[in-house]
Amino acid sequence: MGRRRVKIGIIGGSGLEDPANQILKSITEINREDAKNEFGLPSSNLYLGTISGVDVVLLSRHGPGHKVSPTNVNYRANIEALRIAGCTHILASAACGSLSESIDRGQFVIPDSFIDRTIHRKNTFYDGTSEYYSGVCHVPMEPAFDPHMSTVIKQAADKLGISIRKGGTLVVIEGPRFSSKAESNMYRLWGGHLIGMTACPEACLAKEAGMLYALVAMATDYDCWKENECVNANEVVKIFKSNVSKVTKLLVQTVELIGQQNWDQQIDDLHVSIILFY
Ligand code: ADE
Repeated sequence: MGRRRVKIGIIGGSGLEDPANQILKSITEINREDAKNEFGLPSSNLYLGTISGVDVVLLSRHGPGHKVSPTNVNYRANIEALRIAGCTHILASAACGSLSESIDRGQFVIPDSFIDRTIHRKNTFYDGTSEYYSGVCHVPMEPAFDPHMSTVIKQAADKLGISIRKGGTLVVIEGPRFSSKAESNMYRLWGGHLIGMTACPEACLAKEAGMLYALVAMATDYDCWKENECVNANEVVKIFKSNVSKVTKLLVQTVELIGQQNWDQQIDDLHVSIILFY
């Protein structure tokens, strides 16, 4: 049997609202109405194309113009749209706050775990309403992000001479407000290195849907634990935008390297880890 053809869903975060123009030249656009699925409308149109001969599907998490707040992102519709489009992998990017002295503004990080503090989101496909996702599913969240994809992201960054830190715990808050100083300090005590608002349930749903998922996080601020520092939304978007070309290069190089590997074992292992009770 030949190896599976990979297809990579790329989810652009804050500052990457218009990922198609940045990355793809010849694209097929699927209107979000046509990508609507049993979980609803995805955040944006889907842009299908190739990067170095590898099939990709681009999706903007917050929609064009960053109109959808982290709580209101329809994560299930987004992930399901990518699954239906045939994706085997999801490569996501997100702006995050730094909770660590050693993670500077503009630094890239590939998180390897998370602490989920979200409270208002549908965090499973297996809620008893879906025929496709029927039964009860308890997915293991270790590893929280695919380690093989994470290694490839690191290799891509090294190849491009982009500094990136591999590993770190991402605290995911509900938002849309940022954290208080006491919360920020508490997350540091808990061992958090980064803070963001979107990786949960995105990473969890990708796993339930059987797609390998990894995240490139970019630190845009020091949240508010650090002296004389207090995050604000304009700053987050400004820092992310000033690094968009770097993020884009990194995603493109990562796609190219992913396309060179055989992922059959990783995909099979992921599918085996999804145990259902009927
Ligand atoms: N995204 C970017 N910076 C953030 C912060 N400090 N907290 C939560 N999400 C963020």
